[in-house]
Amino acid sequence: RKSCFRLSTGSKQWDAILNGGFESRSISEVYGEFRCGKTQLAHTLSVVAQLPREEGGGGGKVAWIDTEGTFRPERIVQIAERFKIDPEVANENIIQCRAGNSEHQGSLILELSQYFVTGEYRLLVIDSLMALYRIDFIGRGELAERQQKLGGFLDKLHKIAEEFNIVVFYTNQVQSDPGANALFAGADGRKPVGGHVVAHASTTRVLLRKGRGEERVAKIQDSPDCPEGEATYIITTGGIND
Ligand code: GTP
Ligand code: MG
Repeated sequence: RKSCFRLSTGSKQWDAILNGGFESRSISEVYGEFRCGKTQLAHTLSVVAQLPREEGGGGGKVAWIDTEGTFRPERIVQIAERFKIDPEVANENIIQCRAGNSEHQGSLILELSQYFVTGEYRLLVIDSLMALYRIDFIGRGELAERQQKLGGFLDKLHKIAEEFNIVVFYTNQVQSDPGANALFAGADGRKPVGGHVVAHASTTRVLLRKGRGEERVAKIQDSPDCPEGEATYIITTGGIND
């Protein structure tokens, strides 16, 4: 489609299974257990998004909604050095907001729209999508309300992706109770949080897991145009790499 682009992950293998990277005008999700590199990937994408399109970037700025306090400007500096971008400029090009609760997470999206209308933004990161919803809505009794609010939030993300030609990228957690959501189980039984509502919203879903030693494995679970591929990657000082 016109003016669409794909954002490189920093790993050639991973890009290959994504036909080049995460697509703009689309929503992409990575999910997996702790320390498999979700937040590190988000940092890497935030630098790569600033590279020219010929180099796997988006040629634009980044908005980041942080729900867990894990955004690190120091990591942006290190990753920018790898990609030969001025580290100070790299951080200036990332507008970072800390969300305090799920309602705030929703209102931040509206506030950010005033930046998106400038046409300068190419990536929106939400790390992580579900953390605050899981805190604010506890137990079965609140599940329906949670899913309804979540659905409204995800609708807004779709509109932003489409209207402003942005890559919407969010991280997600895995369910601690594997029985609850068997329909969306990965091959190894790990399931993302958020049920049908998130499953429906994410155009591309990638499951991350730990491999041998420092190795990590990304596996496509759902994609409109990529076959179910697997790729290995590592986390380095310069971000995600082969
Ligand atoms: P949760 O948010 O806890 O679910 O985990 P996550 O999937 O977001 O993991 P994260 O992206 O935070 O990855 C953590 C891993 O990245 C750890 O194994 C760290 O060792 C590694 N890591 C973080 N910073 C660096 C760095 O500067 N250099 C290297 N080589 N590894 C790093
Ligand atoms: Mg994280």
